[in-house]
Amino acid sequence: MNILLCNGKGGTGKTTLTVLLAHALAEAGKKVAVLDRDPQGTATKWLNECESKKVIISGLLTCQES
Ligand SMILES: Nc1ncnc2c1ncn2[C@@H]1O[C@H](COP(=O)(O)OP(=O)(O)O)[C@@H](O)[C@H]1O
Ligand SMILES: [Mg+2]
Repeated sequence: MNILLCNGKGGTGKTTLTVLLAHALAEAGKKVAVLDRDPQGTATKWLNECESKKVIISGLLTCQES
């Protein structure tokens, strides 16, 4: 299952919902990978700092605008 969270407006809770949803699904036994397409990389940062390593984070952090 692919879940896409997007909204053109900032501060609407995309990152928060992504991280919490990923954790909830991982805790429920699902294999979860988060693809972070936001150059800010906040989801990647939060998930990397998290003690639980159940969520695979694939940050396209290198997709910096040039
Ligand atoms: N359900 C919520 N209730 C209250 N505050 C929230 C909620 N979801 C997110 N926030 C807060 O709103 C701010 C923006 O959330 P964030 O997930 O970073 O938004 P986005 O990724 O869309 O820019 C953060 O300070 C976050 O803690
Ligand atoms: Mg965000």
